Amino acid sequence: MKLRDKVAIVTGGGSGIGAASCHAFAREGAALAVVNRSATKAEALARAIEAEGGRAIAISADVSRNADAQRIIDRTVAELGPPDILFNNAGISPAGRITDISEADWDECLNIDLKSVFLAARCAIPHMIAAGGGVIINTAGTFGIRAAKNKAAYSVAKAGVINLSRSIALDYARENIRCNAICPGYVDTALNEGFPAAARNAFLERYQPLRGLIGAGEVAEMALYLASDAAKMITGQVFVLDGGQQAGLYA
Ligand SMILES: NC(=O)c1ccc[n+]([C@@H]2O[C@H](COP(=O)([O-])OP(=O)(O)OC[C@H]3O[C@@H](n4cnc5c(N)ncnc54)[C@H](O)[C@@H]3O)[C@@H](O)[C@H]2O)c1
Repeated sequence: MKLRDKVAIVTGGGSGIGAASCHAFAREGAALAVVNRSATKAEALARAIEAEGGRAIAISADVSRNADAQRIIDRTVAELGPPDILFNNAGISPAGRITDISEADWDECLNIDLKSVFLAARCAIPHMIAAGGGVIINTAGTFGIRAAKNKAAYSVAKAGVINLSRSIALDYARENIRCNAICPGYVDTALNEGFPAAARNAFLERYQPLRGLIGAGEVAEMALYLASDAAKMITGQVFVLDGGQQAGLYA
């Protein structure tokens, strides 16, 4: 078991990449704090993990709020113990150019996708330092490496997540805290349910060299690797899982 006796917090844990990661981490022995804005989603996943023989608590929280971030860490410490692993994965993916979106839209995206990492990490890090180390994994995205058309706020937020991951890695390496970013390409999850199949297929045909769909489970296995001791000398890095999308300018 790669995460035996570890305590892991997974935000956005109720669906998609977060849900698959909760299952993967629990399979490898971790106790899970499943965090979602939706209490129903968080509860359902925590119960599913328990039904598989794992240990999980559900925390309903808005990761963009400081008080909620503190509550996530406090409840985890009180009910499971200090967090060994923090997977900041909750996110939204709104469309729009800067002239199409409101200031409120911009703030919502930046707060949920980027500020949340700052809030959760700074609450978790003191516990990790006291425990002798820890692992932080952040879900960024390929749009954080190269901006995408009509995705201004999202591209900026995910670019910020990449450099925040590097900053955390540098600032806490001597406290034995590792921090890495994962950049998925197009993953078939609820986040993309507004993307019509024809548009999706055209996007993949044009930009993704490998044929096929990336599943949430594949991203979860990458997160599991980064959370495990197999990655104990890896920090401050960006892991791309995109079917070759970022290999060149044209597929
Ligand atoms: N699906 C993709 O193609 C893709 C590509 C690159 C990056 N990502 C990133 O992967 C992460 C997971 O997305 P997914 O694809 O699994 O989609 P998803 O919609 O299934 O998962 C996102 C989860 O975050 C939760 N969430 C949203 N706002 C929240 C908030 N304020 N507080 C707490 N929870 C909140 C949602 O309820 C949802 O369960 C996101 O950060 C997303 O940006 C996804």
